[in-house]
Amino acid sequence: MKVQFTETVVRDSQQSLIATRMPFSDFEDILETMDNAGYHSIECWGGATFDSCLRYLDEDPWERLRKIKAICKKTPLQMLLRGQNILGYKHYPDETVRMFVRKSAENGMDIFRIFDALNDFDNIKVAVDETIKCGKHAQGCICYTTSPVHTIEKYAEMGKELEKMGVHSICIKDMAGICGPQEAYDLVKALKASTKLPVYFHTHHTTGLGPMTYLKAIEAGCDGIDTAISPFAGGTSQPATETMKYALEQLGYETDLNDDDLQKIAAHFAPIKKKFLDNGTLNPQVMGIKADILKYQVPGGMLSNMIANLKDLNAMDKFDAACDEIPAVRKDMGYPPLVTPLSQMVGNQAVQNVLFGERYKNISKEIKAYLRGEYGTAPGEVSQELIDKCWKPEELVQGRYADSLEPIFEKTKAELGKTARSDEDVLSYIAFPQVAEKFFASREEKESNTVNYTIEKKED
Ligand code: CO
Repeated sequence: MKVQFTETVVRDSQQSLIATRMPFSDFEDILETMDNAGYHSIECWGGATFDSCLRYLDEDPWERLRKIKAICKKTPLQMLLRGQNILGYKHYPDETVRMFVRKSAENGMDIFRIFDALNDFDNIKVAVDETIKCGKHAQGCICYTTSPVHTIEKYAEMGKELEKMGVHSICIKDMAGICGPQEAYDLVKALKASTKLPVYFHTHHTTGLGPMTYLKAIEAGCDGIDTAISPFAGGTSQPATETMKYALEQLGYETDLNDDDLQKIAAHFAPIKKKFLDNGTLNPQVMGIKADILKYQVPGGMLSNMIANLKDLNAMDKFDAACDEIPAVRKDMGYPPLVTPLSQMVGNQAVQNVLFGERYKNISKEIKAYLRGEYGTAPGEVSQELIDKCWKPEELVQGRYADSLEPIFEKTKAELGKTARSDEDVLSYIAFPQVAEKFFASREEKESNTVNYTIEKKED
């Protein structure tokens, strides 16, 4: 049996370890080798890369994608797309989602891994449909979490639902690294039994379970895994590509990976890692194992957020109480998977409940919007008492929230006028207005400097 590998070093791995601060110039020279190494796909776009390019790296994310595509001609490029939220946390109208998918496909994207934080597939169906229309690979995600309503049967049903939607493959997305080997085995078996689709597994090494989880997932028939080249593997990133390849081949599995190329890729990224360690961007702490995540069953980012909040308020003595409060808040909210932004919302509410010594005395506007139905349908039942506390029945969202949103693309394009030079620019602006505006201004300025320079040179 063959196992496919998706390399994450230029997306999830660097997002998890160095807050997505890797400029294109750090990996440009190794892309050709990566293209030859035998990967199933290279995850290189979406997630936080888009925002980070505009906000911190002074790079046009669309241009980055085109440049990667120009070098990687054989290996499919892969992105992570947040369904109806595109790359952020608010809902966009369907026409904008479709336009984003279309432009991503045109600029070189091949595999669209599409997820919704609540596993509400009404929030991914438009992105999936447009991906299929563009002739690209639509991969539907199931966000993994543990709760009384997240049973194996329920996950198997989700798989069926995705298959009916027309996705080409399924990804089990274990963003917190909490899925254990036995759970992974049972889950993959169930999805393989309920669908005919290839199943991919995505986890993080945060709790140390990663390699074991991958192995058992593969034993259950999983078709592919996400790994990061060794210098950028481990900790909050993915398990290492070379290590997984070595172990799997020893066990009799085939891979398409080439050792010489992997060695070159590792040799390329080793000094890059050192640079980020030396300048403090890579905090060695993220490379360790966080076993307490297994105890609380919550993502590491959520725990560190809660700790930061409590430290700010000089209330670290309430940390255990706040952690104990999480299950109650999650139950009241209908057991949402703990992925951003829900992880932060649940964590903050748990902290608030403990600090006020009373449940829901203070409710954030995000949680109110969630209770109104703006995020979609929760996996379990949301506390009616809590909904009634915030909204009148007639104020609640009826049906699919995105259906109530007016188209914005043409209107935004007209408003931007010459500032936007392409439809891609308009989409950058829609996704991150202030950040894109600053980026456009700096682009303008840089170019006018270049022009002046050329003129001066001529006059010499
Ligand atoms: Co991830």
